[in-house]
This record gives sequence, structure tokens and C-alpha cells, in this order.
Amino acid sequence: MTAIARPKNLWLGRWGFVLAATGSSVGLGNIWKFPYMTGEYGGGAFVMVYLVCIVAIGVPVMMTEIALGRRGRGSPIDAIRRVARESGRSGLWSGLGWMAMLCGFMILSFYVVVAGWAVSYLWKSLSGGLTADSVEGMAAIFGANNANPWNLGFWSTLVTVATMAIVGLGVQAGIERSVRWMMPGLVVMLVVMIVYAIFSGSFGAGVQFLFAFDPGKLTGQAILAAMGHAFFTLSLASGAILTYGAYLPAGQSIGRTTLMVAICDTLVALMAGLAIFPVIFANGMDPASGPGLIFMSLPLAFQQMPLGGVIETIFFLMLTVAALTSAISMIEATVAWLNESHGLSRARAAWGVGILLWIVSTLAMLSFNVGADWKLAGRHFFDWLDFLTSRFLMPLGGLGTALLAGFVLRRESLEVELGLPSAIHALWRFTIRYVCPVAIVMVFLDALGALNADFDWRWLAMVLALALLAEVVLARLTRRA
Ligand code: PHE
Repeated sequence: MTAIARPKNLWLGRWGFVLAATGSSVGLGNIWKFPYMTGEYGGGAFVMVYLVCIVAIGVPVMMTEIALGRRGRGSPIDAIRRVARESGRSGLWSGLGWMAMLCGFMILSFYVVVAGWAVSYLWKSLSGGLTADSVEGMAAIFGANNANPWNLGFWSTLVTVATMAIVGLGVQAGIERSVRWMMPGLVVMLVVMIVYAIFSGSFGAGVQFLFAFDPGKLTGQAILAAMGHAFFTLSLASGAILTYGAYLPAGQSIGRTTLMVAICDTLVALMAGLAIFPVIFANGMDPASGPGLIFMSLPLAFQQMPLGGVIETIFFLMLTVAALTSAISMIEATVAWLNESHGLSRARAAWGVGILLWIVSTLAMLSFNVGADWKLAGRHFFDWLDFLTSRFLMPLGGLGTALLAGFVLRRESLEVELGLPSAIHALWRFTIRYVCPVAIVMVFLDALGALNADFDWRWLAMVLALALLAEVVLARLTRRA
């Protein structure tokens, strides 16, 4: 069976997809969010659940997205419509693509603000503006950086312009060419950081904190947070991976590339933890200090250490590069859609979307200064963007993707695209049909406050075991028929 549409864009290099998709998944989620969440949710137990979520939910959903993208060869809206129609199903499933595109746009609208922090800290680090003698002093620097809308707006605008410039250049000349040097650079910087942490931090304490498994700390909240983060860190349900998958050449294995991306993403998160916590512990600081962890505690810690200034600069450069390779992936779906379905040139599409993005992200940026009082139900616009995407749009998109692939499309459609050995395919199918939907529905129940903290997870394991049994029996029966 051949692909149902002719690809317009394809990654040129053998590593094009892996570099771009790894660039997408490795971002602020790994270096900023993962360490502070691990700190907040108590370390090893959280890390363990996060790893299980990556393997049991993240990997199968990512494979599905890449397969949908490659089979439909287009932006999420077009690709999903084509794939659904090919199976004789309603084109309205493309609504999933709309949702993904909206989700990517919304994430980017607050992401550029955090990325703006990273770039401004890189600048401060270079120009000597990051010195204080206490965490309070560092907090004051962070506060001052946010308080002036012209300052903060300058940095987030810079990130917006850089993102749109790269995406506007196109898939090969913009995205692929930039990740080809940014990703190796990222790895080199991360290795420098780890080696430094080994020699000068409390490396043992960091390892202990990240990997000591204490089931007593395993609350329902931590489990659900870990699952939401698995979606975010792998760039799922936001159009990024699906669109990059649309450019994957026919011969490349989806299973293998997915594993590579997921392993790299996980390694970077763990390495970031290993680079950050030893430094925190060596200076007797609190790992549970929240979103400010890398912007307050960390610079203070660096300041007290030999060669700290250089390492600090490397750290914020690394953060900037990681954020940029993720940012471009969040908006590629929209630009590809305008380009393919509406005949706009890449550059026009990118700058047009860029203006809209600039307006929305500026509103998000204002949450930290002028608009500090503009709250709806206790949340700033910035917080709403984060909350709606990670608590609502991403899980819902993941659920839709799993249902579409597991129950709606003709079985052969993605089977051909995935090309997995039959046992592995059965495992993928079981996960997509049962594990993912059940797990995701639980996130919603939790968001609605329907799950209490001492929810008994054993009955869930039992239900899933029964479903697996039913699946195996059914597979046997249908094979006979
Ligand atoms: N995965 C990115 C990170 O961890 C964030 C992201 C989300 C990127 C959605 C693309 C789409 O920072």
C-alpha cells in the first residue's frame, strides 16, 4: 500500500527527523520544569512514575502521531482528515488537528516568555548582572527583570522573532539546518555541566535525591502531574510531532526513531537533574523551591563555586538553545497548514502568525507586571495558557488520538505505516486502546476533583489486566475466523 498523498517536504538528512524531534522534545520542560517538579514532588518516587508514563503512554502516543503524520502527509488538520477519510470515516476527525494546532500556539504564547527569561539571564550572566548574596537578593533580580514590561517584552519579542525567522525559512533551510548545529551544541554543553557537577557538587546527594525510590511519597497528585508532564516533555498532542512526522521519509522506522527521541529526552531530563541538584545540595539549598529553582537558587549556587561564572553562562546558553528548538516545533503545524492549504508562502505564513503570536504572548508577558491584577478565577493569563494546555488540551488531544488510532481507523492503515513486528504491534495496540484512554480519563477526573488522594490504584491494574486478556482472546478468535 502506498502513502495516500505525495510528500511536499521531507527531511534531507538521515538524522533530520531525530534531530528535529529531539530538539522539539528537549526544552524548558526538561531543564526548567522537570527539576523543579521533581523537587516539589519529592524526588525519586516522582521520577519513577514519570519514567513509567513515558514508556507506557508517551512512547505509544508518539508512535501514533508520527504514523498519522506520515500517512496523511500534511499539517495535523489535513493529515488527520485524509487518514480518517481513507478509512471511510468522517473528515470531522480533523477537529483533533485544529485542537492540536491551537494547543501548540497557546503553549508557545507563554513559552516565549519563559524562554525570554532564559535569554535575559544569559545576557545578565555575560554582563555581570547576576550577583547577589542571598536567595532573596536573587529573587529581587528575578522580580526586577519581570517588573518592567519593556524589558521583559524585549526579551520575549526577541525569542518570537528568532522562532518565526527560522520557521519562515522552511523545513530544510530553516528547521533542519538550525537543529543540525544546535542539537550537538546542546549535548556538549550538557556534558560540560555534568562533568562540572561530578567534580564540584554533592553528586552523591543529587543521585540519591533523583533515584531513591520512596513509595511513601507517591501521592495521586504526583502520579497525575508526572503523566501530564510526560505529554508536555515529549511535545505530544500539540501538532509538533505529527507535523514533523509528515516529513519523515518512507523507509525510516517509526518505532526505532520514537525510541531514540524518547530516550534522548529522558536522558536530558535526568542529566539536567544530575547537573542541577548536586550544585543545589553542595550549597545547602532547598530542592523544592518551585519554578524559580533555576533562576534564583542555581545562579546563587554558581556564584559561590570555582569557575561558576563560566558554567552559569553555559547553562543559560544551553537553556536558550533548548527553548528555541522546541519553540520552532510548536508553530510549524500552523505555518505548514497556511502554506499547504491556503497557498501562503512560508515566510508570509510565519510572519503573519508571528504577529498574532506576538500580541498573545505580550498579553501573557504582562501578567508579570502591568497586568498583575488581571486575574480570572485566581489565575493570570499566563497561568491560564499553561493550565488549559497541560491540564485540558494535551490530555484531550492524546485521548482523541488514541481513540482514533485504536477504534476508528481501519486496522491496516496504521499497521502498514508503523511496520512493527506482530508482538510489538499487539502491545502498541493494547496500550493505545486501553492503557492510554484509561490513564488520560483519570487526569480529567482528577482535574474535576473527582479523585481523592488515597485513590486505590490496584483496581485499575486489575481492569487493565482484564482488558489485555480480552484483547489477546479476541485476537485469537478473529485470526481463526
Ligand atoms: N517538549 C517541550 C519541552 O519539554 C515543550 C513542547 C510542548 C514542545 C509542545 C512542542 C510542543 O520543553
